[in-house]
Amino acid sequence: MFEAERFIKLLLQLCMVKVGEIGKYLGKIIGCISFSGRWISRRENRNKGKEPDQSVIPTSVNYHFTRQCNYKCGFCFHTAKTSFVLPLEEAKRGLQLLKQAGMEKINFSGGEPFLHNRGEFVGKLVQYCKQDLQLPSVSIVSNGSLITEKWFKNYGEDLDILAVSCDSFKEDTNRLIGRGQGNKNHIKNLLKVRQWCRDYRVAFKVNSVVNTFNFEEDMNEQIRMLNPVRWKVFQCLLIDGENAGEDAIRHAATYVISNDDFNRYLDRHKGIECLVPESNEKMRDSYLILDEYMRFLDCTKGRKDPSKSILDVGVENAITFSGFDEKMFFKRGGKYLWSKADMRLEW
Ligand SMILES: C[S@@+](CC[C@H](N)C(=O)[O-])C[C@H]1O[C@@H](n2cnc3c(N)ncnc32)[C@H](O)[C@@H]1O
Ligand code: SF4
Repeated sequence: MFEAERFIKLLLQLCMVKVGEIGKYLGKIIGCISFSGRWISRRENRNKGKEPDQSVIPTSVNYHFTRQCNYKCGFCFHTAKTSFVLPLEEAKRGLQLLKQAGMEKINFSGGEPFLHNRGEFVGKLVQYCKQDLQLPSVSIVSNGSLITEKWFKNYGEDLDILAVSCDSFKEDTNRLIGRGQGNKNHIKNLLKVRQWCRDYRVAFKVNSVVNTFNFEEDMNEQIRMLNPVRWKVFQCLLIDGENAGEDAIRHAATYVISNDDFNRYLDRHKGIECLVPESNEKMRDSYLILDEYMRFLDCTKGRKDPSKSILDVGVENAITFSGFDEKMFFKRGGKYLWSKADMRLEW
């Protein structure tokens, strides 16, 4: 907006000055065009064949504030490459910048968000986003294994949605996938968390990754019993440098399923109304992802290329390097009823 106004003002001034001065103003106009980060990003388009949207608003953001996790899912595409977590006040500053840039929904992810400071860190961020920033939607995606009732007592009121990942209702399959730690029973934890969501009025969601270990499973009965507000079903995705390629910690090629197998899984569960399918194509570029340094991660080239941190260059500059596909975001149903106040839940 600022650049456009400046541009028009200069044009008007140009009409009023003597011909001899035209060169001077032309120079200013050219300077104005090339100074704007947005215009620069247009020239240096990193999304081959795609026009970067110059007016991307970070409506819905996923902040992966930690890469550390207590599970070892073999297909995981956000791995423990660092142990860095921003100091709380810096993370809050970044969230405030995002709010000023138009953020309406924040989702905290990882790694496992309940690992750092035993859930206190994510609790404080949830509280800050709801009470101070007054965001319409605050959510977390978790493996569910480290959440306590005390956490719900302290922070549940400020949380709109809790998504818990569950790829199988067979404990053997979960163990094969790596969704587990020691003697922890993933399903038992899931059921406990489900009940706390009812008790403390947090909307409950399930995320499942369809892979070679579960693609033939029928999960209809259990999903109906859990009755989530939304069931996200992802086709297992490969990301170079995370779960594929030489410098990756995980190697998930053996977990990947074909489009046909994914569609058969979807067909088997088509009676479940809250199911939201996400094929590889839908998923890859349709999320605004911030890493532990608050850098946007661009997945358009099949790996996660980081921008500069929003804490150093601001949201508007960093977001031009996010590779975000806003059309796909809307196509996959990214904008939905995401405030628990609007959901009319029976809990
Ligand atoms: C990276 S995890 C982090 C949050 C938390 N640790 C969990 O597992 O829910 C975020 C979501 O990505 C999903 N996910 C992980 N690896 C994936 C992959 N290769 N393809 C598709 N989804 C994946 C997880 O199942 C989870 O629902
Ligand atoms: S997908 Fe599994 S390994 Fe990856 S962060 Fe979540 S629980 Fe941890």
